[in-house]
Amino acid sequence: MAPSALLLLSLSAILIIHLSLTTAQLPPYPFHACSNTTNYTSNSAFPSNLNLTFSSLIANATNGDGFYNASHGQNSDKAYALFLCRGDISPSSCQTCIKENSEEIIRRCPNQKEAVIWDTECMVRYANRSIFSRMEESPELYLWNVNNVSDPDHFKATLASLMSSLVTRAVTVSSSNMFAAGDVNLTLFNRLYALVQCTPDLSLSDCKKCLSGSIGQIPVCCDGKQGGIILRPSCNIRYEIYTFYDPAAAAPGLSPPATSSPSPPAPASSTKSSGKLMIFEILSVRFYSPL
Ligand SMILES: *[C@@H]1O[C@H](CO)[C@@H](O)[C@H](O)[C@H]1NC(C)=O
Ligand SMILES: *[C@@H]1O[C@H](CO)[C@@H](O)[C@H](O)[C@H]1NC(C)=O
Ligand SMILES: *[C@@H]1O[C@H](CO)[C@@H](O)[C@H](O)[C@H]1NC(C)=O
Ligand SMILES: *[C@@H]1O[C@H](CO)[C@@H](O)[C@H](O)[C@H]1NC(C)=O
Ligand SMILES: *[C@@H]1O[C@H](CO)[C@@H](O)[C@H](O)[C@H]1NC(C)=O
Ligand SMILES: *[C@@H]1O[C@H](CO)[C@@H](O)[C@H](O)[C@H]1NC(C)=O
Ligand SMILES: *[C@@H]1O[C@H](CO)[C@@H](O)[C@H](O)[C@H]1NC(C)=O
Ligand SMILES: *[C@@H]1O[C@H](CO)[C@@H](O)[C@H](O)[C@H]1NC(C)=O
Repeated sequence: MAPSALLLLSLSAILIIHLSLTTAQLPPYPFHACSNTTNYTSNSAFPSNLNLTFSSLIANATNGDGFYNASHGQNSDKAYALFLCRGDISPSSCQTCIKENSEEIIRRCPNQKEAVIWDTECMVRYANRSIFSRMEESPELYLWNVNNVSDPDHFKATLASLMSSLVTRAVTVSSSNMFAAGDVNLTLFNRLYALVQCTPDLSLSDCKKCLSGSIGQIPVCCDGKQGGIILRPSCNIRYEIYTFYDPAAAAPGLSPPATSSPSPPAPASSTKSSGKLMIFEILSVRFYSPL
């Protein structure tokens, strides 16, 4: 990664820690991964093809699908890109997220031929190779809520059953667009909320494989924690004991809206990264504690 990107990264980490003193303690989104093996030169056609491709994504971001893939250019300078918006957000929020993050990824990964950025409401990816309709599990990013659960066995069982029903919904309900979110009672006083989503260019079986693999990582990253987030290029999962998505938009007719308790501020999370395949490595390992 270029030194300027590292500097930008550290600056934003400092900024978030400062912000979290006064506002809700949210993970310092967006997160990104640059491929550091595939540089382009500024005078090649790749950057202008990428610019055109991002423009297509932005123009198509209000299509209502929350997903679009596009490409521009020829041969080795061809640029491929796609976006995925969280299933419960409006087309206009989706477009704003795509616009901001397609600019941000260029700032964070200057001259890189392949990169991915994950924000709270969307993901943007690009490469100089076709990334469409391929299930990719790397790079992978874990985040977890630093607060511990009080009854780990019950929590685990409840979470496993909720995740399993969401995966089933995401890959079988034809209208689900490979997105499902829902909640269940955890205790008399608490509910557990979760969300799963794949890029809808995957086959149903690849979506299921990506999600099941991510769920299998929960004990690795997030054992005994009240919340966890696992981000991959092809799918993402999240769970928390507070609402972090719009229940009305997320699960029409499936789960009754949670009893109207205001959602508590998001607790701080810690982050840890793992770059399993060779193409990417997430350089930053950032931990931050509740303040
Ligand atoms: C890519 O560019 C970065 C910064 O400009 C440089 O540090 C790195 O060595 C380059 N990598 C390759 C494979 O050329
Ligand atoms: C992508 O760029 C890298 C680095 O320039 C190159 O080695 C690779 O062959 C390119 N991939 C494709 C599919 O053109
Ligand atoms: C494309 O490049 C132009 C000129 O540099 C810039 O203003 C615009 O923001 C770029 N578009 C995207 C989607 O990055
Ligand atoms: C969507 O993107 C395609 C190129 O991929 C472009 O031709 C089309 O005009 C875009 N749609 C809109 C509504 O701009
Ligand atoms: C999106 O990807 C699919 C699958 O690879 C491809 O058939 C389609 O042409 C792509 N769409 C655009 C606008 O490039
Ligand atoms: C959670 O539990 C671990 C291990 O028991 C402990 O080290 C940590 O301080 C606890 N975290 C919080 C936020 O209570
Ligand atoms: C969930 O909890 C609420 C309030 O504690 C209770 O009224 C409701 O019946 C519970 N639902 C299920 C399915 O157990
Ligand atoms: C990317 O850069 C990091 C740090 O410079 C290095 O440790 C890693 O091996 C590089 N990754 C690849 C795939 O070359």
